[in-house]
Amino acid sequence: MKPSIADSAVKAMLEREAKLYVQRNPKSQALSAEASAHWLRGVPMQWMVDWGLPFPLFVDEAKGINLKDADGHSYLDFCLGDTGAMFGHSPKPVADCLAREGAHGLTTMLPSPDATKVGALLADRFGLPFWQVTATASDANRAVIRWSRAITGRQKILVFNHCYHGCVDETFVTADGGKVIMDPSLVGEPRDLSAFTKVVEFNDVPALEKALRVGDVACVLAEPVMTNVGMVLPAPGFLETLRTLTKETGTILVMDETHTLTSSVGGYSRSIGLKPDALVFGKPIAGGIPAGLYGFSAETAARVHTYMGQRGEGRSGIGTTLSGSRIQVALIRTVLEEFMTDPVFEALITLARRLERGVADVIIKHSLPWHVTRVGARVEFMCVPTPPKNGYEASQVIHKPIDEAVHRYLLNRGVVITPFHNMMLVCPSTTGEDVTKLIETFEACVSELLN
Ligand SMILES: Cc1ncc(COP(=O)(O)O)c(C=O)c1O
Repeated sequence: MKPSIADSAVKAMLEREAKLYVQRNPKSQALSAEASAHWLRGVPMQWMVDWGLPFPLFVDEAKGINLKDADGHSYLDFCLGDTGAMFGHSPKPVADCLAREGAHGLTTMLPSPDATKVGALLADRFGLPFWQVTATASDANRAVIRWSRAITGRQKILVFNHCYHGCVDETFVTADGGKVIMDPSLVGEPRDLSAFTKVVEFNDVPALEKALRVGDVACVLAEPVMTNVGMVLPAPGFLETLRTLTKETGTILVMDETHTLTSSVGGYSRSIGLKPDALVFGKPIAGGIPAGLYGFSAETAARVHTYMGQRGEGRSGIGTTLSGSRIQVALIRTVLEEFMTDPVFEALITLARRLERGVADVIIKHSLPWHVTRVGARVEFMCVPTPPKNGYEASQVIHKPIDEAVHRYLLNRGVVITPFHNMMLVCPSTTGEDVTKLIETFEACVSELLN
């Protein structure tokens, strides 16, 4: 479906907003030039150049929902580090924990007494009894894939088409055109990863059943809602069928809740009573300090124990030196106690509903063939009238120029949303006025595009 916005209007906005961005940000421009001398691609991490801007915005300070850039402009941040700062930038309990605990040792490669409390909190919040800390969610996914292969004796994994689970090699495969191929976006991979990974469309029960009944899949790695290709919701009953089929075929079901942590205390799976064999998440769980986690059911953990008992301890290819560090564990405790609570989520979801309604009202008022989806505190609009059913459909409707024009317009007027898609997240310090400012600026942008 073609958006009812003229390509010429999009192009004009992209050009105008790029010029305005350059005029507004001389210090960021100078810093960018300077940084290019020693940072590969000019930035500490290369995604920082993927914001669709003439040069990166250099951020001086981030606090709560506010960012201040090097040129002194203030922003309302609805990107929140692409979920890494889901509970706000440097919220007081996290800053206090860093100051307090940071003075007593950051990493020792030994457990701290806090670990007992944190293990119990994780079991309480997420309903799985056994946990491990990693450096990132990508690492957690890699570890769970290894364990799944080890305990099932199977080599293959299964993912949904157009998924994203971090930089995990085996997940970079797609199935557009029916055939499974390496995702062309993967840099420097000599192996044919399609030999290890089956790909089916989200919500396609017959294809899923056919792939699993062969009995050669170690684990299904899935988000309960696809969140990295716009947002794709599970059809009624799909996740329950996924659970049944994985059980019947002896396949480990791994739910990657890295983004769907926004749903509720315990994530999306828990909110619908789904019981996976393993859970994975990361990003905001240590308040913005790198940390990932994976949790296992009692049965999965027992299989790991049996496997390790037969194999013996020692090097395994699982775990990294700084994972499970004293400071990570202390920060995870803070986040679980202070933010992973029902009152915090009730407030977040109330505000996110208001944001969803506001964006929907703008879409309706201007008769745009767009829609908006919300998963807990996370809201996303897509430039297509009906929600896509699977990753392929979603990948076909992403309209990069419109997305980029909207992002630039908002940014130049003090509002930041997530660069790679149209995700807007609220945090505990987001206010109703902040949401109103986003909606009003979004409406002004849409009005200009339609004129
Ligand atoms: C669903 C999902 N899983 C895992 C990851 C990887 O997280 P990280 O980049 O922090 O390792 C991401 C990153 O966006 C994600 O969206």
